Amino acid sequence: MALNQAIKGVLRPGDHVVTTSVEHNSVMRPLRRMEEAGVRITVVPAGGDGVTEARDVIAAFRKETRLVVMVHASNVSGALQPVDVVVAAAHRRGILTLIDAAQTAGCVPIDLSSLPVDLVASSGHKGLLGPQGTGFLFVREGVPIVPLIEGGTGSRSESDRQPEFFPDALESGTQNSVGAAGLAVSLAWILRKGVATIRRREVGLVERLLKGLSGIPGVKVYGPGDPARRGSAVSFRVEGMDPAEVGMRLEKRSGVLVRAGLHCSPNSHRALGTFPAGTVRVSPGPFTTRTEIATFLSALRTIGRT
Ligand SMILES: Cc1ncc(COP(=O)(O)O)c(C=O)c1O
Repeated sequence: MALNQAIKGVLRPGDHVVTTSVEHNSVMRPLRRMEEAGVRITVVPAGGDGVTEARDVIAAFRKETRLVVMVHASNVSGALQPVDVVVAAAHRRGILTLIDAAQTAGCVPIDLSSLPVDLVASSGHKGLLGPQGTGFLFVREGVPIVPLIEGGTGSRSESDRQPEFFPDALESGTQNSVGAAGLAVSLAWILRKGVATIRRREVGLVERLLKGLSGIPGVKVYGPGDPARRGSAVSFRVEGMDPAEVGMRLEKRSGVLVRAGLHCSPNSHRALGTFPAGTVRVSPGPFTTRTEIATFLSALRTIGRT
């Protein structure tokens, strides 16, 4: 919803957009829809580690470029993207920027006072630990954006026109207040704990995970080897076994639940060379323990045994 609002609220026919080959379908599908409406798209390819080079993104800027859309950390390879450098360069050229922070909000610090990003979108149910069906779109003051939907806002009810002030301009209809209340509770917990503390803990768990996975024969891990250059999503494959089969065996034999397949990001898998079977993905969160990492690794070691 937030990404649709940002993309469709900002782009007009004739505009050019720069994005990357590691975006989620939540970005690519609205962009493809806009392509049908006369928007041109450049998809900058990522390297084999899932990282898109800032210089390649910047080199794709044209005079009619209106928007750059980039994921902060890939939901497949986990690779953190060079959003700081790209946002600064786009800002200097007067190009709007949209960051998809679904994999980083709540677990990788983002400082909106120093990063001149225009739009940031995220779901509420991942690193923000809130209920499904919640999320947000941050719109920097002054960014020209039209509403995706119009309706009642509970404000300016005497007018049959959509209010132009924020947030009402973009908040039509009865809001999901139950979801928002749930999200408020998890946000309060995150703020008490501190995003930097959560990040440090997750980097430590990812380090253990990467080390353990690299020691298992036949296991190939995707994305940067340095945990500091990635979010928490870790994708891997077991040689000679379909990722879906790995997932099923982990669940049936050890009760370990993972996600196998394309993770709604087919382009990421094309970039990594894991299309069409995809990968198996595990993602430690703030409540994951070292013991759980060890349990998962020993379950994976026994996967090939009948
Ligand atoms: C990077 C990324 N962007 C966008 C989304 C979409 O989030 P939602 O399912 O809340 O629309 C996801 C989640 O699957 C994601 O990982």
